[in-house]
Amino acid sequence: MSNYLAKNTLPHVGTTPAVRGDGIKFYDANGKQYYDFSSQTLNLLLGQCHPSIVKAIREQAGRISYASSRFGTDVYFEAVELLHSIAPNPESKVNIKMCDGSDANETAIKTARKYTNKPGIISFYKMHTGQTTQTINIRGYGRDERTLIGTTDQVYFVNPPKCKDLMDYLDTLEEIEEIAKREKIGGLILDPLMVNGGLLVNKNTREYLRAIQTICKNYNMIFILDENQTFGWFPTLFASKYWDIDPDIITLGKGLSGGNPLAGVIIKDYLDGVLDYNEADFTNGGNPLCCAATIATINTLLNTNFKIMEKEKIFTEGFSVIKEKFSNVNVRGIGIIWCLDLSDIESDNNLTSSIYKVMLDRGIFLRQYGNKLIFKPPVIVTEEEIRMVMLKLRKVMEEVLCN
Ligand SMILES: Cc1ncc(COP(=O)(O)O)c(C=O)c1O
Repeated sequence: MSNYLAKNTLPHVGTTPAVRGDGIKFYDANGKQYYDFSSQTLNLLLGQCHPSIVKAIREQAGRISYASSRFGTDVYFEAVELLHSIAPNPESKVNIKMCDGSDANETAIKTARKYTNKPGIISFYKMHTGQTTQTINIRGYGRDERTLIGTTDQVYFVNPPKCKDLMDYLDTLEEIEEIAKREKIGGLILDPLMVNGGLLVNKNTREYLRAIQTICKNYNMIFILDENQTFGWFPTLFASKYWDIDPDIITLGKGLSGGNPLAGVIIKDYLDGVLDYNEADFTNGGNPLCCAATIATINTLLNTNFKIMEKEKIFTEGFSVIKEKFSNVNVRGIGIIWCLDLSDIESDNNLTSSIYKVMLDRGIFLRQYGNKLIFKPPVIVTEEEIRMVMLKLRKVMEEVLCN
């Protein structure tokens, strides 16, 4: 490992660096091949070096490098228009002059507080929201006060429904309503899946999200839906469209540009103009190369049937075989986003880490959060690849859990 690398930036280094990628596969400097069932940082929606994105970036690179906000670039306007054309609510405006999901969430928070003139924000324990000061403030874990300016006094955390069963979401609603009654709350921010918190999803998700939306309306709180993790992984592109909800602000990043540094918000028309110039339009936001990548990504999503729900069936079949053998693991998922939850087997992470590591040794890259493993391949994944990974997983679990 390089002596010059800041420790916090690549905590898991120990493997050799990745040097090349092709679709769902990538290769390290020793030539070892991996199947990416994590979409890298849960962002590489179309996999490595998707031809449409490569072509778009190459062409754009020779056209214009950058333009100040005095002009904007044609490719920025084109990306905005395209994103608007697929937005769940046509009565909305788009700002993609941001680079990361944290910027987008921060923008949403600023907008909600400024518009409502109410300082409080409701967030959820365990939920990831970002790494800027405001987004660490509202993050449901790992808030080190020494890194923050100000306090978290105006942030109100509620307990999300239990991962294993969303039947008990009524407790969560009660907590939200109780805070909304008592405090001056400008907005509520929610990642509909909470992948980092262990993936909250089951047949009640729609009702749960709709109930939250209703509370937001009743108490004049801006409903912010964080679609950083979800955009593009649903057949409807947006999770909000899939579950038929109508948030006031949708925040986007990660997959929107196929893994290039671009993020932004879709805000309802009535919120337009709340933020002033220089309050949410970053220098590198809306960079022409990333806009070209975004256009290519959205067009690819619109022109290709990735058969996400058909692929869901393969995951369901694979995991049901695993459940037959290991009845005390919990499994939940939607489309091609799945979680294998070992919290009923172990309270620490030893077995989960072993499964993760053996899978990695065998060329399957997953994501681990404590005693949970996340499967979130790029949408280009094939049914055969899912079957292959499910089979490998079963064998590895037999080795690790039966010994
Ligand atoms: C749900 C969610 N919101 C926001 C973020 C922050 O995005 P970024 O790391 O691009 O700032 C992430 C990143 O993992 C996320 O998963």
